[in-house]
Formats: sequence, structure tokens, C-alpha cells
Amino acid sequence: MAQFTLPKNSKIYQGKTFSATVDAKNKKTFRVYRWEPENNDNPRMDSYEIDLDDCGPMVLDALIYIKNEIDSTLTFRRSCREGICGSCAMNIGGINTLACTKVISDIRGDINIYPLPHMSVVKDLVPDMTHFYAQYAAIKPWMQTQTPPPPDRERLQSKEDRAKIDGLYECILCACCSTSCPSYWWNSDRYLGPAILLQAYRWIIDSRDENTGERLDELEDPFRLYRCHTIMNCTKTCPKGLNPAKAIAEIKKLLVSRTI
Ligand code: SF4
Ligand code: SF4
Ligand code: FES
Repeated sequence: MAQFTLPKNSKIYQGKTFSATVDAKNKKTFRVYRWEPENNDNPRMDSYEIDLDDCGPMVLDALIYIKNEIDSTLTFRRSCREGICGSCAMNIGGINTLACTKVISDIRGDINIYPLPHMSVVKDLVPDMTHFYAQYAAIKPWMQTQTPPPPDRERLQSKEDRAKIDGLYECILCACCSTSCPSYWWNSDRYLGPAILLQAYRWIIDSRDENTGERLDELEDPFRLYRCHTIMNCTKTCPKGLNPAKAIAEIKKLLVSRTI
């Protein structure tokens, strides 16, 4: 069997340990991935023991507590703190999810926190989303029309047509699904991944959009779409309960149906 050795600078070392005060009654340890671009050090895992009686119930509350009270150098993204902006996506306890909606007490033992997998790291828990957003822009995520709009009102949609984008419009582009997809790990240079394909389907299925054929043409490609092998990690991990694998299957069905 072939054996591979990881490059020296990819190994993660045990970093610093910060202990809670001796009178802490409700202790929990958070092991957090740390990497700083300013120096040449390898990544490390720092351990922060905190008293849960001092912080809120979510993993994001713990990270904010660590940053405010223990170690201000810890870097992570967050904004809305209620599962809407998608910026606090990270790998918590082995699962890609949102730190602001992940309840600390749902995880037994120490909590390991890493950035989203298989993304370049900007610093600590902050992944580089540049490529992901460029892929999003490539599917033209806005309504495209050929006909002029009605002169006196917006373009209308029946209730039934509106219902077709339920389960799609709620996507917050957190990238939890794409970064849990093995096909995306190995082919993200050409495979669009579940998040972007779900977004593409959101516009394909919108009755007001008039560029459906062109959108499907753009996706009919062995890499952009057909690298999905229905492994289903994406649907399993989505913190909003969406089903990107189903959206991908629907695109494939549309491509087949227009050939017969
Ligand atoms: S489908 Fe779910 S996991 Fe994927 S980007 Fe959208 S909200 Fe995030
Ligand atoms: S179903 Fe497709 S997109 Fe989802 S994890 Fe599997 S290969 Fe990736
Ligand atoms: S902070 Fe906005 S989704 Fe978590």
C-alpha cells in the first residue's frame, strides 16, 4: 500500500493552554485551530478552558468570550449571530455548521473547532471565500429576462410557482455543504459544488426568469455539474435544513428531459 507523508508545515501542533480560574464550577474546554500568516509557524491547536456560567449557550458565545476575556488574537467571522448571514460557518465537533446556532451543551466532552475544511485559511478560523464567491457570480444569481416588464406593476408569479423556490431561497451561502463534499474538495477548481448548484437551480426554477435554457447550457458540463456523485454529505450538514443534493438531482433531470 502506498504511504504518504504530510509536508512538514502541514502538521498541526499542540499550542497554548489557558485554564479556567480555580473557582470555576461549569468548565468546558474548547480546542481551537490557530494559524497566523505573519510568521512561518505550523498551525496549532490552542486549548481554552472556560466557565460556561460566564458565557452564553452557543459556540459563538464561547468564541466571543475567549476573544474578549482570554485571548484577543483569536480571529473568526461573525455578524448576525442568528443563523442569517452565514459568516460564522466553521467545523465544530467534526461537523460543518454555524457557530451561532450550535448549542454548546449538544456536544459532549472537549469541543474541537477548525475552519471549514479544504479551504485556504486567511487566519485562524477564517477561510478564504474568494473562489466560492467567484463561482457564485458565475451562475449569474439575478433574474434575467428577454421581455420588457409590465408597465404598471412588477412581474407576478402564481402561488404555485412561488412555492417552487421554497427550500432554495433560504440558502445563506455559508458554504457548509460545499466544504463537506468530497467531490468539491478534490475538484473545486471546476466543480461548482452543492451551494452554488442549489443557487443555480433557484434561478432555473423561478417562473419569472427567461434564461432557463442558457442557464442549463452553462451547467451541462462533466465537471461543473456532473462531479456530484450523490454522496449526500451536503444535505446532511446544511445548518438551514436545505437539500442541495435534491436541487442538483432536479437540474440533472431537467437536462435529461430536454433531450427527449
Ligand atoms: S445549502 Fe445550506 S449549507 Fe449550503 S450554503 Fe446554503 S445554507 Fe449553507
Ligand atoms: S450529493 Fe453531490 S454535492 Fe452533495 S456531497 Fe454528495 S457529491 Fe457533493
Ligand atoms: S453570525 Fe450570522 S450566521 Fe452565524
